[in-house]
Amino acid sequence: MSVRQQINTQRLPRHIAIIMDGNGRWAKEKGEDRLFGHLHGVESVRDIVEGAAELGIGNLTLYAFSTENWERPEYEVTGLMELLVDTIRNEIPTLNKNNIRLHVIGDTSMLPEDAQQQLQEALAETASNTGLNLIMALSYSSRWEMVKAVQQIAAEVKAGRLSPDAITHEILHAHLATHNFPDPELMIRTSGEFRISNFLLYQLAYAELYFTDTRWPDFRKENLYEAIIDYQQRERRFGKTGDQLKTTSEENS
Ligand code: IPE
Ligand code: IPE
Ligand code: MG
Repeated sequence: MSVRQQINTQRLPRHIAIIMDGNGRWAKEKGEDRLFGHLHGVESVRDIVEGAAELGIGNLTLYAFSTENWERPEYEVTGLMELLVDTIRNEIPTLNKNNIRLHVIGDTSMLPEDAQQQLQEALAETASNTGLNLIMALSYSSRWEMVKAVQQIAAEVKAGRLSPDAITHEILHAHLATHNFPDPELMIRTSGEFRISNFLLYQLAYAELYFTDTRWPDFRKENLYEAIIDYQQRERRFGKTGDQLKTTSEENS
């Protein structure tokens, strides 16, 4: 049986989030410049987006550039932005062919003008697609997102439209950049780092975390399948006991 056939298609995560890490190290190990790694990372993005769409995953969030990544050397930031603009421009026909809708979360006002322009066009040109939601986290950080949400909620309270007692999980969630999407059930990080790096801190509350040593430019559909199979073997208890879960599933069967 192939790895793909081992996936239970009835129990797919609705939302997978990926920290695409390790481009720089992948390139250095080959004696190349870090930008060479980012260039090859785009191949992985194509493969994984295609793989997720083929499986029927509803939502895929890819962490492409963090707020903190602006602190990298200027040549790397510039190179990454150029790559971003080129990739978006070139990928629109494929996204449309595969019925994929592009979304962006993050402080896009920090992106160069031409990148913002390309993004707006790509968002508009894929807006009527109804298949996979491809959510690119660009100039994103969870703390940025949460501070913005708190500012918006505070403004509503000040204007008398909302009472502090009425602030619930649902209201906070509605002010996050991801309000249109379910929380990720599976979060993958490549390249052997065991941290979250300011990614979806609130939304990952009950996500299953999957870490692999594979560097992002080497990550392919097969690796995605392995992560999903691993996820499907986990018992997601949400604070309950394992016995309680068994009783509930027996009652429902
Ligand atoms: C991930 O790879 C891509 C971005 C953060 C833009 P890195 O560039 O972080 O690669 P490493 O972690 O230095 O190997
Ligand atoms: C996280 O990777 C951000 C992205 C993958 C876009 P980093 O490489 O920037 O994270 P740290 O610095 O190792 O935590
Ligand atoms: Mg890194």
